[in-house]
Amino acid sequence: MAGTETDLNPQEQVAAANKAFEQEFERFVRFTAETAPTGLSLAEATADERALAELRTRHTGKKSALAATKKLIGRVEADQRAAFGQLVQSTEAGIVAKLDAAEASLKALIEAHRTARESIDVTLPGRRPRYGHRHPITLMRERIEDIFVSLGYVIEDGREIETDFYNFAALNIPDNHPARGTQDTFYTTDGFALRSQTSTVQIHAMQRRGVPVRMIAPGRVFRRDTPDPTHNPMFYQVEGLCVDRGITMAHLKGTVGEFLRRMFGADTVTRFRPSYFPFTEPSAEFDFSCFKCKGSGCRICKNSGWIELGGSGMVHPNVLRTVGVDPEEYSGFAFGLGIDRMVGLMYNLDDIRLLFENDVRFLEQFE
Ligand code: FA5
Repeated sequence: MAGTETDLNPQEQVAAANKAFEQEFERFVRFTAETAPTGLSLAEATADERALAELRTRHTGKKSALAATKKLIGRVEADQRAAFGQLVQSTEAGIVAKLDAAEASLKALIEAHRTARESIDVTLPGRRPRYGHRHPITLMRERIEDIFVSLGYVIEDGREIETDFYNFAALNIPDNHPARGTQDTFYTTDGFALRSQTSTVQIHAMQRRGVPVRMIAPGRVFRRDTPDPTHNPMFYQVEGLCVDRGITMAHLKGTVGEFLRRMFGADTVTRFRPSYFPFTEPSAEFDFSCFKCKGSGCRICKNSGWIELGGSGMVHPNVLRTVGVDPEEYSGFAFGLGIDRMVGLMYNLDDIRLLFENDVRFLEQFE
């Protein structure tokens, strides 16, 4: 505005600087009133405070029009110099006083907001923490454990990563058996395998505890199965093993039958069908009468009246020999069943994959 400055005499320049300030300051005038506004949000008050600081720099800073008028004092006629100096000074004092007043009231407003935000109402009720609960698979595992512990079984914890010996060789699984193939088993790069069944724990348990032994081993197993409503590549099994002198197939049938009656009701009937597993001889799969329709046929048992649950058999003599147990002196039975499918049956799930999708709305139903 150099042109304007030269057109105006010094007094007019002071007046112009003051007028320019007054115009811009108009929106802040309300903060200098006796009762400053209170309805501003913290964000609005903070923005106004920043705008006011910029306005102060523009109108009182070194490059302001007012500062320029100070340089004129020396050039004013000597007899008018004192009066002009006073005019500049009082104009500046007026501007600064207004800025200070508005700034003080904005700062008070901001402070009040912050105090309100930070204050704690000790009379408010506390926030109740949301309790979690056990996963349906854990609930089922614990029910199974309770039943077997009451039958005198101990609970064994196995490993999820195994060597070839525990995963296959000790379980009498020959070198060319399809279960060893990479299309069935997950291998690590250095030759270990993720166990594909909890039967591996039979070997660990007999090595660690010797015989006689009665144990169950719940745990995670892994198979290269394509996920579908009844398959997951990771699922839970429970292994059972009983080795002693004089153990027969009758003990196996009695134990599995008792377990299923305690699990699904006293009128549950069990049946065994011949099958094949390399580590048992003879081998059998076992089914139980449908807990829903009691055998007459329904959606759960696919109208057959029976539900398939797992595999079992008498421990193969080769398995006993591998862990240094004489099969002439000792015999035993073993069984294994899938927990996930059992949970699926009990809770009438269409799809066992729901169990691992971590959807809280689903999981909350099993409290
Ligand atoms: C076995 O795994 C044997 N180890 C069982 C056994 C133990 C036999 C001891 C003899 C002596 P099988 O492959 O059938 O058997 O699996 C047992 C159960 O695991 C099945 O009945 C089923 O409930 C469950 N299962 C198998 N594959 C899957 C899968 N991909 N997803 C969920 N559950 C599965």
